[in-house]
Amino acid sequence: MSQSFDVAVIGAGPGGYVAAIRCAQLGLNTVCIDEWKNLQGKASLGGTCLNVGCIPSKALLESSENYERVAHKYSGHGIKVEGLSVDIPMMLSRKDKIVTAFTSGIAMLFKKNKVSSIHGRGTLVKDKDDKKPWKVKVKSGDEEETIEAKYIIIATGSTPRQLPFVAVDNERVLDNEGALALVEVPKRLGIIGAGVVGLEMASVWRRLGSEVTILEALPEFLSVVDEQVAKEAHKIFTRELGLEILTGIKLIEIKTGKKTVIVKYLDAQARAKKLEVDKLIVSVGRVPNTVELGAENVGLRIDDGGHIGVDSHCRTNLPNVYAVGDVVRGPMLAHKASEEGIAVAESIFANVEGQVRELTKLNLDIIPWVIYTSPEIAWVGKTEQELKTAGIKYKAGQFPFMANGRARALGETSGFVKVLADANTDRILGVHMIGPYVSEMISEAVMAMEFAASSEDIARIVHAHPSLSEVLHEAALGVDKRALHI
Ligand code: FAD
Ligand code: NAI
Repeated sequence: MSQSFDVAVIGAGPGGYVAAIRCAQLGLNTVCIDEWKNLQGKASLGGTCLNVGCIPSKALLESSENYERVAHKYSGHGIKVEGLSVDIPMMLSRKDKIVTAFTSGIAMLFKKNKVSSIHGRGTLVKDKDDKKPWKVKVKSGDEEETIEAKYIIIATGSTPRQLPFVAVDNERVLDNEGALALVEVPKRLGIIGAGVVGLEMASVWRRLGSEVTILEALPEFLSVVDEQVAKEAHKIFTRELGLEILTGIKLIEIKTGKKTVIVKYLDAQARAKKLEVDKLIVSVGRVPNTVELGAENVGLRIDDGGHIGVDSHCRTNLPNVYAVGDVVRGPMLAHKASEEGIAVAESIFANVEGQVRELTKLNLDIIPWVIYTSPEIAWVGKTEQELKTAGIKYKAGQFPFMANGRARALGETSGFVKVLADANTDRILGVHMIGPYVSEMISEAVMAMEFAASSEDIARIVHAHPSLSEVLHEAALGVDKRALHI
């Protein structure tokens, strides 16, 4: 007889594993099905984020930035290091240890919370009797079993978008997985796509010594980011970090040779150009993953972009079937996936309990973004260009890190914070940051916006001195033209 559960979660990335834990915390008998295997062929929970995304990329960003600091920045502090060298295999093994600690940590969390875990690919199976619970076939190698569940949460994530020109082999042409596992520093590194993955990977390998050229199709650099922040970032990445960033290009052909990759493209002036590199990273976005999920077996609605269609509560078109994370609309971010997972778990619990209350849902307008370059870029809410397009009248306050004592002490003075507030109500509409550790600072802005704060609210809050957070404080004061230190 097949095992029966209250909830079956398909996918153990940050959307799925968090949903499973929350369901179990609420007393629901929960199973989480995941097919991920690491390079050693072992089952590894945590999805893209823990295995080949957020965590390993941040480990390498930190290691390479430490190298950059010692090589180029510490001498300004009077610290001189001779005979500096970098041990890439050790850097990679440190990263791998961090990944293993977290992926095996999820297995422990599952045990602690009594979440059943099954390794294998989950496929939804049609049952002739609509009154029966949902059935999921789980296949791993030659083994197959079918489980039943009253509720299904699909959290199957996303995979890298492929280019028609060339196949990723993770030898010479790399996706994020290959880009995080290079055993030596390529002399010449090409990157297709100046998005989040492209810029983070460019930072790692440029700092370690590669000559990096990025080819971006769009005419503007970082078009999703506030224009002024994007301009500042472009200046720093090209002049200080030494990235070559070419925008407005059109790819013509990519050819892989024995030792190099040749990319033929038209530049922004439509002139034919050629780039020869030792390794090429393809980072042109990600696509929702519904491969062999069995959507067609059960009539699950997939939209034109390949996402599973959901409403604001992550409900699909099928009763008791939810979907969260990268596989549904909205930003492809780990924290967005996890918070949707929690909201769905609580909605299911309310349903099981027969509670009549408003279902939990995520406010997709207030999701923080961070790009972990140096300086970091972080934002929440609307950009200036979005406010202008929408015809919303706003006031802006801005303050540079150069005028902040803590930033000076750190020796990290590039960038600024900008606060955008409604011209009539003073309610904060967006906060944009480029500078040191803004990944940590953005949470204050998120909290303020969730509580519908005004710029005056932040201006009146006491901020510790000296701290980087004073830059946000001063930017908020600046909305009312009363910044003190500029
Ligand atoms: P995923 O993490 O993709 O997990 C889906 C899981 O489901 C996988 O384990 C997959 O094997 C499994 N699966 C799929 N189909 C099936 C099936 N049919 N049966 C069983 N299992 C299945 N986001 C951030 O917020 N911050 C960052 O710093 C950040 N850095 C990133 C760096 C890189 C290089 C990349 C590529 C992404 C990064 N992201 C980051 C994005 C983040 O990784 C994703 O948004 C997040 O992982 C999405 O979570 P998810 O649970 O929806 O899906
Ligand atoms: P992306 O959407 O951020 O950037 C892709 C870039 O490639 C875009 O600028 C696009 O214009 C460009 N592009 C597309 N087709 C092209 C072509 N044919 N030629 C040249 N350029 C082309 O996607 P990316 O970088 O692959 O990352 C995927 C997602 O993963 C991100 O959008 C984000 O959601 C997530 N992520 C988040 C991180 C974070 O939070 N720090 C880090 C890395 C990834």
